[in-house]
Amino acid sequence: MTKILAIESSCDETSASVIIDGHVKSNLIATQEIHRSYGGVVPELASRAHQQNIVPVVMEALKKAQITTKELDAIAFTRGPGLLGALIVGTAFAKSLALSLEIPLIEINHMQAHVLAHFIDEPKPKFPFLCLTVSGGHTQIVLVKDYLEMEVIGTTQDDAVGEAFDKTAKMLGLPYPGGVEIDKLAQKGIVQDYGLPKVDLPNLDFSFSGLKTAILYFIRKQEQKNPNFIKENINDICATIQHTLIETLLRKIIQAARQQNINQIAIAGGVSANSELRKRMTELGKEKKWDIFIPKMEYCTDNAAMIAMAAHYKFLKQEFSNQTVAPLSRMSF
Ligand code: KG4
Ligand code: ZN
Repeated sequence: MTKILAIESSCDETSASVIIDGHVKSNLIATQEIHRSYGGVVPELASRAHQQNIVPVVMEALKKAQITTKELDAIAFTRGPGLLGALIVGTAFAKSLALSLEIPLIEINHMQAHVLAHFIDEPKPKFPFLCLTVSGGHTQIVLVKDYLEMEVIGTTQDDAVGEAFDKTAKMLGLPYPGGVEIDKLAQKGIVQDYGLPKVDLPNLDFSFSGLKTAILYFIRKQEQKNPNFIKENINDICATIQHTLIETLLRKIIQAARQQNINQIAIAGGVSANSELRKRMTELGKEKKWDIFIPKMEYCTDNAAMIAMAAHYKFLKQEFSNQTVAPLSRMSF
């Protein structure tokens, strides 16, 4: 039996997971509440909180899986992409533990792990499939050829879609993380025609910064006419922003599916927790006769179970890292 401990510390969640022969046995996540009062993730505070949380979270993950460190066969960690200071905490911890236990070290690409979250539970997609990976830092259409063989065929040229959610939420005075708030309020609103632009690049790439600016100007203009505009229309504003962002994502995934002639379509990353995106993808799947794969909520946002799943496949191929490995804030596949 192969037992792997995986650690995730790329942003503001400290997480540890144990996987045994490809089955996730525990997935502990300590969410750092401290960032809420700042309206966004403060990198230095994130590193500090990881330092405080990492040992208790790891201990709890081992306890829940009913194993001790002595039984482990490998230690996996997120090498990147992410906040460097945050990644250093997880990397240094993983290296030290692997060194002391004299077992292999496995580095994991966080974005690849978001995609591999689809192999934690049934139903699992078949290769090749397309994965729309949408998070706070990335917006990618990934052509997944095999567990560890992936190609980004579309990406954002500026802001990530999660960032667009979070930044517009901030403009509206909503708390962090804004995506969750917009999702909640949008459920009570009606999509309006505010004349927001539909930015459409000719290839499979995305651009969200224009929309963000358009929303800012729209709000300012409306507030000049009625200072209570946001307050009185918050639900409709959220529904409209969410609709506009999701329409863009759907247009591109349709284009990618047609171009690649693939009907296995998955979504992953923090924004895949969005209720409207989940609903629209399901409807689109029925309409287009695609097989749609939507992760469980706990595997959408950052978690170590997806790191553990990726580590399982790397262990099978004996792809190990050496002790000089260092984290990377930017990291391609
Ligand atoms: O994958 P993730 O946890 O961290 C990164 O790797 O970035 O994604 C976080 C992003 C944030 O931008 C957050 O606002 C967004 O996911 N998010 C959502 C929802 N839940 C999380 N966006 C829209 N609707 C949601 N329900
Ligand atoms: Zn993530």
